[in-house]
Amino acid sequence: MKLRDFLRKKLTDKELKLVPRAFDIVGDVAIIEIPPELKKRKRMIAEALKVMHPRIKTVCNKTGERSGDFRLPDLELLLGKDTKTEHTEYGCRFRVDVKEAYFSGREAVERQRIAKQVKPGEKVLVMFSGVCPLPITIAIFQPKVDKVYGVDLNPKAHEYAQENIRINRVPLKVNAYCGDVREVCPKLGVKFDRVLMPLPKGAHEFLDVALQVVKKNGIIHFYYWDREDHLYTNALKIIRKEAKKAGKKVKILSKRKVLPYGPRVWKICIDAKIG
Ligand SMILES: C[S@@+](CC[C@H](N)C(=O)[O-])C[C@H]1O[C@@H](n2cnc3c(N)ncnc32)[C@H](O)[C@@H]1O
Repeated sequence: MKLRDFLRKKLTDKELKLVPRAFDIVGDVAIIEIPPELKKRKRMIAEALKVMHPRIKTVCNKTGERSGDFRLPDLELLLGKDTKTEHTEYGCRFRVDVKEAYFSGREAVERQRIAKQVKPGEKVLVMFSGVCPLPITIAIFQPKVDKVYGVDLNPKAHEYAQENIRINRVPLKVNAYCGDVREVCPKLGVKFDRVLMPLPKGAHEFLDVALQVVKKNGIIHFYYWDREDHLYTNALKIIRKEAKKAGKKVKILSKRKVLPYGPRVWKICIDAKIG
């Protein structure tokens, strides 16, 4: 049953139309974006969510877009106490406090797509690794990977990353570092077969670093966001321009929409081989 159907007898037709069609679930925390017009109905909507999905313990209202370096949303607690939770995805366990670190269960399919491409023996760098869902997914689904390195600026995300590496039993395969990728990555002294850049609003500022640490014939997975009418144009231009600056050749292997970002705006990924 949909949330709107559930609330049909409790709200007016006008109010019903404003009830969000979608919401996110991270572990036992639900995150919904209730429009200001339904301010007085917030608690009722939160309770309805909890009744519909009995495993939900906490409901948060997203009152602002993700912002800042850590890409954190503004969340208002509507029901429950705890925003710390454990999310399970394809058998991997990710602990996170949704107020303190970025995590999105919507990216599960993309994590699988990447993990399936990783070959035995590869050294992989995940820039902007958050609580380490990508490094851990790669290590679990390609256990013959040489090593996966994750780097994130947010100390809280780093704490959860270390906990997640431990509970998923991949400490020999995943190394997490806390810091700015611009400073940390060159200091690792490693050349990578594959570099992931999952920061759609900002990864382009760090392409020079990725190009510096990727091996010859290595792959960069570059994330960006743009409007539907020119989805890949800017991202392709940026990659080609940065590769040229670095004196490297680039071959585009694939480009794809990852997730919708807003009306006619998409998060995209370009997979590029660096010669
Ligand atoms: C969109 S989130 C992605 C997190 C993670 N890859 C995931 O999928 O859950 C971007 C992350 O980049 C981190 N970040 C932003 N700027 C950074 C920088 N200069 N160096 C390292 N991490 C950075 C933020 O702290 C945040 O956790």
